Amino acid sequence: KKRIVSGVQPTGSIHLGNYLGAIKNWIALQNSYETLFFIVDLHAITLPYDTQQLSKATRETAAIYLACGIDNSKASVFVQSHVRAHVELMWLLSSATPIGWLNKMIQFKEKSHKAGDENVGVALLTYPVLMASDILLYQSDFVPVGEDQKQHLELTRELAERVNYLYGGRKWKKLGGRGGAIFKVPEPLIPPAGARVMSLTDGLSKMSKSAPSDQSRINLLDPKDVIANKIKRCKTDSSAGLEFDNLARPECNNLLSIYQLISGKTKGEVAEECQNMNWGTFKPLLTDALIEHLHPIQVRYEEIMSDSAYLDKVLADGAAKAADIADATLNNVYQAMGFLRR
Ligand code: TYM
Repeated sequence: KKRIVSGVQPTGSIHLGNYLGAIKNWIALQNSYETLFFIVDLHAITLPYDTQQLSKATRETAAIYLACGIDNSKASVFVQSHVRAHVELMWLLSSATPIGWLNKMIQFKEKSHKAGDENVGVALLTYPVLMASDILLYQSDFVPVGEDQKQHLELTRELAERVNYLYGGRKWKKLGGRGGAIFKVPEPLIPPAGARVMSLTDGLSKMSKSAPSDQSRINLLDPKDVIANKIKRCKTDSSAGLEFDNLARPECNNLLSIYQLISGKTKGEVAEECQNMNWGTFKPLLTDALIEHLHPIQVRYEEIMSDSAYLDKVLADGAAKAADIADATLNNVYQAMGFLRR
């Protein structure tokens, strides 16, 4: 079976962008692939954070994975920091990562610009190396993520090739020149729709956990009345009729896309259904579809959160399975890089 890995940071609340861009797509993949889904707590400390909240947010994110339909009998669900190989491999990889590659990262530029130089830890710069480690440790074939992670995936691919080139050679030769690359070069899986869910208050910026206004996003755990209120107040326009793909109407395209994905209809069906609607008829429709889709997730979430022994067991089993795979890769890398092994 081909292997898939992905993860979400336990910072702020998980929103519709995380769900439609990533988590929802993981569900379909777990039947045909070997899947590992982690909560990337080590990534969550790259910007100032609240130590009182980290472990709580990590559990909550794990519970959301399960509530959304990740089946732990098929997928390994675990916490990144529970598998030590992630950090260890990161150090080895960082020796092969040109600083120039990291300086080019758009997310680094944006986040460091916002925080200001004195507040930016080195880890924000080396963040993509840890992400590469998350992926390469498992010899992953595919990585299902939203559009905003594309550049990090490209770096991961380049890094895999570079390490294979720098350290894979000798081993390859020993094996008669066939196979034996240190890392598999993974490919991103970016969904055709939902890869970039936009803010409810500005159709030109991405829905994000860090946007100051909660009105800009639908969180998966928002109660019904909050969802209704956010949709009621969300930004629209004054054109008649609703349509996809009109660049002058980013909010319209975003809201129709959300409706399409949440209702399970095709783009064509939604385009036809909504072409003559005005916002007054569409908004209640979208609200109902969101509530109907999210309610069962919220009910399961409460059940899972009320059984902490179960959640602990899922995470312990997941970490044990992941560590087996990760340790094998890590050993290989140490060997290829010439370390004395105990
Ligand atoms: P994070 O926690 O920012 O986001 C988790 C996932 O949600 C996607 N996403 C979106 N998709 C569509 N529209 C949006 N508005 C939107 N916002 C977020 C992201 O693309 C992502 O797939 N660096 C990663 C976490 C990570 C990771 C990994 C992912 C660490 N190691 C290894 C895959 C493999 C991040 O910060 O995601």
